[in-house]
Amino acid sequence: MTKPSILVARAVFPEVIARLGQHFEVEHNQADASWTRDELVARLQGKVGVFTTGGERIDAAVLAACPQLRICANMAVGYNNFDLPAMTAAKVLGTNTPDVLTETTADFGFALLMATARRVTESEHYLRAGKWTKWAYDMFAGSDVHGSTLGILGMGRIGQGIARRGAHGFGMRVIYHNRSRLTSDLEASCKASYVSKEELLRTADHLVLVLPYSASSHHAIGAAELALMKPTATLVNVARGGIVDDAALAQALRERRIAAAGLDVFEGEPKVHPDLLAVPNVVLTPHIASASVPTRRAMADLAADNLIAFLVNGKPLTPLNPE
Ligand code: DGY
Repeated sequence: MTKPSILVARAVFPEVIARLGQHFEVEHNQADASWTRDELVARLQGKVGVFTTGGERIDAAVLAACPQLRICANMAVGYNNFDLPAMTAAKVLGTNTPDVLTETTADFGFALLMATARRVTESEHYLRAGKWTKWAYDMFAGSDVHGSTLGILGMGRIGQGIARRGAHGFGMRVIYHNRSRLTSDLEASCKASYVSKEELLRTADHLVLVLPYSASSHHAIGAAELALMKPTATLVNVARGGIVDDAALAQALRERRIAAAGLDVFEGEPKVHPDLLAVPNVVLTPHIASASVPTRRAMADLAADNLIAFLVNGKPLTPLNPE
């Protein structure tokens, strides 16, 4: 019997490709770059499934051009690259990789918070540039993390992981804002209190963004929101570019209207707004919050398992738009 054909849109672990090969004819992208949209559509011809990695846009036009497609399995928990209503209308299933990356991403959110508050990369650049010649009482003095107020915007699984780290590990007071309030049990386990978005912005010493990107969260943090924050506050984004207005943030950092920022995600990444590159008080990382080796492997395995479970057994593991 001929095996169904699938496409793997970016290079991933060879072991995962080999496992997919036991069930499917696999065409995969072995280049160290993404395909253009036209190339993706051309390669999707005749494929019933595609393994995506978060950067490939699957919308109504792509779906119309690929009528045999039945499933798009994203190796990411975020799925703003999918037009889910269009996929549902075209009867194409979407899957993502929840849970397996929660703790790793929360670890990184905290790492970025610490690096930002304590000016780790800024001081390292200074040292590497040979500028460290003497002790100074105020050299790279930052803000404390322990005992401060941690604000979290978006209190899903990753937000809760960051809250637990802050409350239990660093004695932080945790406040959060979310579309819906957590149950009292969850609030107690995170030691987190629900506040309005305005109170969150005004009160947090360290504000971490962990909300999903959608039309309603586009520029959730812009000039008006930044103006409400304390001049000593730091802002961390491990969610999605587009949630922050990067130009407005660069201006606020340049004018020291907030103290510092730590950003793992950017509007239009992998391009980074030149104004952000020009300010010293920002820690910049290339969208690596989930990038521990075991977690990236677990994400790839779950995306592959979704393809196998759906196309072979009819039952996806983590569907986004089940029938
Ligand atoms: C996700 O899973 O959405 C991450 O951003 C990808 O690393």
